[in-house]
Amino acid sequence: MFWMRLILFLLFGPIKTSNSNNYRKFHCKEQKECFNYELICEISGYEVRHYQASRWIATNVTSFFMEFANYEGFTKLFHYIQGKNEEGKKMAMTAPTLLKIPENDRIMENKNYTIHILLPAMYQENPPAPVDSDVYFIDLPEMYAFVKSFGGWLLTWNSKFYSSRLKTQLSKADRKFVSGYYYGAGYNSSEEVEVEDKEWGPMTLIDRHNEVWYIAEGTPGCSSSDPDLAI
Ligand SMILES: *[C@@H]1O[C@H](CO)[C@@H](O)[C@H](O)[C@H]1NC(C)=O
Ligand SMILES: *[C@@H]1O[C@H](CO)[C@@H](O)[C@H](O)[C@H]1NC(C)=O
Ligand SMILES: *[C@@H]1O[C@H](CO)[C@@H](O)[C@H](O)[C@H]1NC(C)=O
Repeated sequence: MFWMRLILFLLFGPIKTSNSNNYRKFHCKEQKECFNYELICEISGYEVRHYQASRWIATNVTSFFMEFANYEGFTKLFHYIQGKNEEGKKMAMTAPTLLKIPENDRIMENKNYTIHILLPAMYQENPPAPVDSDVYFIDLPEMYAFVKSFGGWLLTWNSKFYSSRLKTQLSKADRKFVSGYYYGAGYNSSEEVEVEDKEWGPMTLIDRHNEVWYIAEGTPGCSSSDPDLAI
């Protein structure tokens, strides 16, 4: 029960402007629930965030192209939350959609991607089993992430561009992080599927939020000795 309450708090928890509660819901506009975090600090173009343990639905896709993997994986997971599960439960879309991207510069090579959608708070503990055998549950541990934000769509070229920029900054600042992969986080995924329900104004094309994350090793602090690399 403690876990359930903690999870509920983290997902919906009172969002105050005072310092007493650092959990934020900043990038939560289209969705009811988002993966909330504690902002540890913001340094020269990236953020250090703390995330609690969480449960997601996920699927693996092997493809030459990140865009294709993301689309195919997202579609399978979206079907799950739309009711393609053993109890026929429909769930509200959450944000962000996380794409685990292998660091691999070889273009003409299949790569393995994992796509994740956060389970809504009420399904964190006992989610209905997926019908699609490619869809599985995954528990992400409590973690600290280094995060860089950018607009537009989450595409190969810009996720590479911003992740390598972030990696360079982290390396110069002697930060310890897990290498071999990074995450791409998209906050505007719902419209990809429900395009016909949306008005396509200029903001739909411009006002989009994406991030790249490297997962920290250990507990990162915030040091003013970080070299200030302007973006
Ligand atoms: C999905 O891929 C990860 C590696 O990224 C692997 O550890 C895991 O076993 C795969 N799961 C399935 C169900 O294929
Ligand atoms: C991708 O996963 C498959 C099995 O799931 C594995 O055989 C293959 O080696 C992996 N490819 C890469 C590039 O890691
Ligand atoms: C995309 O998501 C971000 C974060 O939730 C939000 O600020 C923005 O308004 C969304 N953009 C569109 C076009 O809905």
